[in-house]
Amino acid sequence: MKYKESGAGDPLILIHGFPFHSDLWEPQLANVAPGWHYIAPDLRGFGDTPLDGATLTMDRFADDIVALLDDKGIDQAVMLGLSMGGYVALSLVMRHPDRVRALVLAATRANADTPDAAEKRRQQAADVRANGTSAVIEGMLPKLFSAHSRMKLPETVAAVRTMMEATPPETMAGALEGMADRPDYTDRLGEIDVSTLVIRGEQDEIIPAGDMEAIARSVRGARQEVISLAGHLPNREDPEVFNNVLHKFLSGLPPAFKLGDLSLSF
Ligand code: MLT
Repeated sequence: MKYKESGAGDPLILIHGFPFHSDLWEPQLANVAPGWHYIAPDLRGFGDTPLDGATLTMDRFADDIVALLDDKGIDQAVMLGLSMGGYVALSLVMRHPDRVRALVLAATRANADTPDAAEKRRQQAADVRANGTSAVIEGMLPKLFSAHSRMKLPETVAAVRTMMEATPPETMAGALEGMADRPDYTDRLGEIDVSTLVIRGEQDEIIPAGDMEAIARSVRGARQEVISLAGHLPNREDPEVFNNVLHKFLSGLPPAFKLGDLSLSF
């Protein structure tokens, strides 16, 4: 699995959304919280990581991240997932809770697709395989940014388009099917027992505010931050505020537990 990294210290994994790659996190990799080591993988099939003929599921993406932690000798990391990356972070915390030190869920949801939404994604997957990725890109791009960002940030919009256009059709189709099949974690949010921050753009057209509020309500002690004038990509639309919120959360975390810290007294 290919990744970009920046900084030194405690690990934070930045998990990109669909259909992007690790460059989504450019403004975060350029401004790392002091004492932190950011690692931004390209999920399987995206960016520089090959698909290798795999079926894409949120669980597979999560297991790939666990394999990356193993490779790098990392026991536990903070997981930051945006949108589809949040679906992956939820799979990770449910299936590998001991590997997650804390969670940041940005522009995402715990609920599964409705049957209609899942069916639409499967049709889109078939269309991508037959006709390429441009219909998905053109349909999605205007919804990714708030009207304010579309007007003020044409270079960011262009950079995001370039990332989307770099996604191969088979990856895009596979990830659409993987998202259509993802489980509903709404009733399991109470199992999460790590510090959790929910970040949403005030004008996100893709994830309804209620879906994010439900996560913030159901995860014990979760805090929610709303980034005004941002849409579905708050980390790109207002990197300064996003980074401030993230740095504050990271600096407030309890110290990492390490096996070596355990001293036994008799
Ligand atoms: C994403 O940004 O990852 C996607 O919008 C998620 C989705 O389509 O559900």
